[in-house]
Amino acid sequence: MLKSDFNAVLLQHRIDIESFLENYILTYTEISGNSAAIASRYSLLGGGKRIRPILLIEAAKLYGVKKSDYLSFAAAIEMIHTYSLIHDDLPAMDDDDLRRGQPSCHKKYGEATAVLAGDLLLTAAFEIMLRNISNSSALAREKIQAALLIAEAAGGRGMIAGQCLDLQLEQVKATEIILTDLQHKKTGALLSASLLAGAVLGKATEFETGLWKQLGLIWGLIFQMMDDVLDFTADAAVLGKSTGKDERDRKSTFVTVYGLSKTKELIRSEQGKALELLEILAKEQDIGFFIAFNDYLSERGN
Ligand code: IPE
Ligand code: IPE
Ligand code: MG
Ligand code: MG
Ligand code: MG
Repeated sequence: MLKSDFNAVLLQHRIDIESFLENYILTYTEISGNSAAIASRYSLLGGGKRIRPILLIEAAKLYGVKKSDYLSFAAAIEMIHTYSLIHDDLPAMDDDDLRRGQPSCHKKYGEATAVLAGDLLLTAAFEIMLRNISNSSALAREKIQAALLIAEAAGGRGMIAGQCLDLQLEQVKATEIILTDLQHKKTGALLSASLLAGAVLGKATEFETGLWKQLGLIWGLIFQMMDDVLDFTADAAVLGKSTGKDERDRKSTFVTVYGLSKTKELIRSEQGKALELLEILAKEQDIGFFIAFNDYLSERGN
């Protein structure tokens, strides 16, 4: 797939996701005095690459799933991701002032409202998925399975477990095995669940879902390694969030432990592994978008 076509696909999906999110969040902001709704709208619609919902959509489309059956799940995963960023930025966690190119949620609305905005988004995500299941009888079993995968990935065996490991690793040097486990949970779980949920909605075979899961974990690892590289190398104005924090907090990341060039080498080697999995999947489907996505992972500047 040409880079220009890839970028056009990203843009179209972003438009679809954002208009769905905008309409849904309106149902909360209309309630008077709901400051958490206003704060969550601010964080949800203030930028963001929408990588996770885009992966869910592309995986679902590969298996011929209809928009009315996948969009609620894509929106839900972006809400969960945004909640995780709002809480990740809180003073009790990473204490970050800038997010998606604007003051982070607690900087704009105060800590209490930011906590509630995160809670609102996490709860709304499950409301959206359940509403879709409840409103239509199509793919009911597959949708329940997809929602369960998303719940597992976001929760105490997935992202939350990863965030706990991340907190424990401040001031401590981690080994590659510990770091890989942390990144798999912190970022890989939700990324992997995005692909998996899309494939499950499309009734992919067990063999295929196994491949998507592995691919998601590898991409989660690359995505977080790149996040760590950008924390070290990028300009805050381009990145839309503050930089140099991992070093400031003496946080164990691939970059702080192994340095920049070894991390970039690891990224290339993980991209090679991802390509091998994609080649197996390519025997059944047209996976041009995913090949382009594999390259994008190491080229992204924000
Ligand atoms: C940032 O995620 C946090 C990580 C899990 C590395 P993204 O880089 O996807 O952030 P947005 O959604 O584009 O703002
Ligand atoms: C956050 O990782 C991952 C989440 C689950 C939210 P980071 O703390 O590295 O993300 P940034 O750099 O603040 O976006
Ligand atoms: Mg963090
Ligand atoms: Mg952070
Ligand atoms: Mg980071």
